[in-house]
Formats: sequence, structure tokens, C-alpha cells
Amino acid sequence: MSEILPQAFGVFGDPIAHSRSPAMHGAAFATLGLPHRYLPFHVVPGQLEAAIRGAAALGFGGVNLTVPHKRAALAICDQLAPEAARVGAVNTLRFDPELGVVGHNTDGVGFVAGLAQLPGPPLDQLRRAVVLGSGGASRAIVDALLAHAPQLELRWVSRRPEGLAERFPSFADRIQPTSWAALELDAQLLVNTTIVGLAEGPADFPVPLELDALTADARVVDIVYPAPEHGLLAQARARGLPGQDGLPMLLWQGVRALELWLQRELPTTAVAAMGRAIGIQG
Ligand SMILES: NC(=O)c1ccc[n+]([C@@H]2O[C@H](COP(=O)([O-])OP(=O)(O)OC[C@H]3O[C@@H](n4cnc5c(N)ncnc54)[C@H](OP(=O)(O)O)[C@@H]3O)[C@@H](O)[C@H]2O)c1
Repeated sequence: MSEILPQAFGVFGDPIAHSRSPAMHGAAFATLGLPHRYLPFHVVPGQLEAAIRGAAALGFGGVNLTVPHKRAALAICDQLAPEAARVGAVNTLRFDPELGVVGHNTDGVGFVAGLAQLPGPPLDQLRRAVVLGSGGASRAIVDALLAHAPQLELRWVSRRPEGLAERFPSFADRIQPTSWAALELDAQLLVNTTIVGLAEGPADFPVPLELDALTADARVVDIVYPAPEHGLLAQARARGLPGQDGLPMLLWQGVRALELWLQRELPTTAVAAMGRAIGIQG
């Protein structure tokens, strides 16, 4: 058997020190017996293109992008995967000998894979969901939910809801742009994608959320991590509803990125090691 040569991988961001991705991907490489390395790189916005072209020239196996680079990368990539073009953001770069720098977005599929771990109706039976916030993470989640749940009607809540449906022309008739004042929670899925509850974010939603209106089979996901102690998930728990923080989404976007880079499905042992590395128990 021929020897596998070590390859470099990494995540570009500003700031970057807090990133859990190096530990997560390092755990995968160790479990798979691969000699590769995944490192955090502090890349300021003005250096993004140079950093991407440099990584391509150096033969990197792949790169993740985080704040503030996900949108700026659109203009740098030579090709965009369909979901990255729809969402308008790139979180994973693949360096293809023929196509050049290819931009993908694994945040949405990562969210959907995490959601599948919570008890509740399968996505093809999901009819009503509420997504709070319309920022970058939200766009990836809205796109993936509408693509995977063909019967879904989605209430998309923002401080500025005007024009939200037009962001996804192919799904526009299934998106109901909603202001916080008009929010109704009679849904099977509630997802918080806002920065409310983040250590440096606002402490409270613009209106109090009354989870009693959710259906009996509803699930609640708050993609902020770590989840605030008295936030949405605590409210869901108090009502006996299954809830999930942002770690499963973080895990599965990383799994899908690594699968793109290695061109193979990861074994459950590698996924479990990645999960443990970012603090998911079990
Ligand atoms: N788990 C994961 O893998 C993962 C991945 C990506 C992001 N995240 C988390 O998701 C959150 C959002 O990230 P992002 O990249 O989408 O950020 P972003 O593009 O900057 O979006 C900010 C979001 O916060 C909302 N917002 C800001 N101030 C608010 C306020 N006072 N009241 C209500 N909503 C407010 C915005 O809503 P409107 O402008 O629509 O009102 C928007 O949805 C962060 O906490 C981030 O850590 C988690």
C-alpha cells in the first residue's frame, strides 16, 4: 500500500482563536489514521484572497471560512456549489485540479443532519417551522430546510422582514416574512439563529416567546453555543419538548466538509471522535 502524504487543512477567520474546528478535525484525522494537520489561521479581510490563493498553491487539502469571510469568498471562488450560490455564503473551500477553488456551504446540511438526531417528525412530513433571524447562518438553514422538507411553510422572523421571501426565488411561495410583533408560534419546529443569548449579544428577544403555542411534537433548536442557561432551550425543557444547541450543527457541517475534502463518507467512529472533541457527550 502506498504511503499517505500529510496534507494541510485549516480555518480562516478574524478572530479565530476561539474556533473548535482544529480540535474537531484533528480528532477525525487521528481516528482515521491520517497524517494530516488542521490549523487555525488569523486572516484579516484584506488578505482573504491572498490567503486562499496561497493555500491553493501550497496544495492544502481544504479550508473552512468563518466570520467575517463567508460572503467575501463568493467573489474569490472559481466555482460555486449550488447551495453556496443560493445562500450567498461559503464556509468550505475545495481545491480542485480542474475547477480551481470551489466554494461550498455545509452549514445548512449540517443543521439538517443535527436536527435528524432529535426525536420528531421526519423532514418530509414537516409542515410548519419558525426561524428567528435572517443573518448568514439563518439563510443556510432556511435554504436547507426548504430543500429537504417539500411540504414546509416557513415563517422567517426578522427585525426587517421586507424582501426576505425574494432571497430564495425558488422557495418564495413557501416563505412567510414575519416581524417580531406579528410572530405566532404554532409550529413543529422553532429555530433561533439570532445572536440573542450569545455572551456579547442582546439578552432578550424583541418580544417574549410563548412556547405553549408550539405543537405537541415540536422541536426547538438554538444554534448559539454554548446555549444560554436560561434561554430558549431551558424553556423547551420545562415544557418537555426536545431541544438542541448549536454543537450538533457545528459537528455535522464539519463532517460534511471533511467528506467533501476526503471524497468519502466518514465512519461513525470518526464522527463520534469529532463530537467528543467539541464537547458533545455520548
Ligand atoms: N452552531 C453553528 O454551527 C453555528 C454556525 C453559524 C453561526 N452560529 C451562531 O449563529 C448566530 C448568528 O450567526 P450569523 O453568522 O448568522 O450572524 P449574522 O449574519 O451577523 O446575523 C446576526 C443575526 O442576529 C439577529 N439579531 C441581531 N441583533 C438582534 C436583536 N437585537 N434582536 C433580534 N435579533 C437580532 C439578526 O436578525 P435580523 O437582522 O434578521 O433581525 C441576524 O439573524 C451566532 O450566535 C453564531 O454563533 C452557529
